[in-house]
Amino acid sequence: AKRVRVHHLREMKERGEPWPMLTAYDMYTAELFDEAGIPVLLVGDSASNNVYGYESSLPVTVDEMVPLVRAVTRSVKRALVVADLPFGSYQLSPEQALATSVRMMKEGRAHAVKLEGGRAFAPHVKAITTAGVPVMGHIGFTPQSEHNLGGYRVQGRGDAAGDLLEDAIALQEAGAFAVVMEMVPAEAAKRITHELAIPTVGIGAGPDCDAQVLVWQDMMGLRSGRAPRFVKRYADLAGIMKGAVEQFASEVRGREFPAPEHVFH
Ligand code: KIV
Ligand code: NA
Repeated sequence: AKRVRVHHLREMKERGEPWPMLTAYDMYTAELFDEAGIPVLLVGDSASNNVYGYESSLPVTVDEMVPLVRAVTRSVKRALVVADLPFGSYQLSPEQALATSVRMMKEGRAHAVKLEGGRAFAPHVKAITTAGVPVMGHIGFTPQSEHNLGGYRVQGRGDAAGDLLEDAIALQEAGAFAVVMEMVPAEAAKRITHELAIPTVGIGAGPDCDAQVLVWQDMMGLRSGRAPRFVKRYADLAGIMKGAVEQFASEVRGREFPAPEHVFH
């Protein structure tokens, strides 16, 4: 199968074909999602919570992200792999943003990078794309700014919708190939999607975005506890895995496992 390139994503937008995107952080998920035809995989800084067990997306470092990015890119044949730039690895300057992107490309073998922020980050996006690296933007609720935004809250309600549109346009003009919109009212997301030539990727941004993204552990029900409203659970992996572990433990305790067919003589 031919590799997915950024121009394919724009062509899908022009044809009005919505496309799915998922996070992936390791070999089996990357291989499986790629074979299932997911065109874009994101090695999100959500690895902070979902792989490393930190309490938010802030603590994860570039050194922790790079091996995950490398595992995912090594495991796909077709998908475009986007590496998230973690908190603190790009905000200082366009030069820092480019230096971190270069690490993601050279060490992680990523195909593109993603960073959070609106028009204030247009110079950062410009520096990276000028160096030949495709950039995905991320606006609306941006988890790295959780403390400044006052927690997980919908962004771009009322008058703030115009600001969001200006942010999206600034990112497009700086050369971004797509923009994630997180926790944005559906009406604002629809308008921005129509105004932009580049694809919008929604997460909690309604049905009119050009693409939809979810964190795989959320949509597969691996993460226990209450999920945000925008998450749909497509499977109960936690239940399946817990059942398997309990059965294994009970069969070991009852000397039912290993059975004769699992034994060498
Ligand atoms: O880190 C992440 O998983 C993300 C997606 C939710 C867009 O940024
Ligand atoms: Na992220």
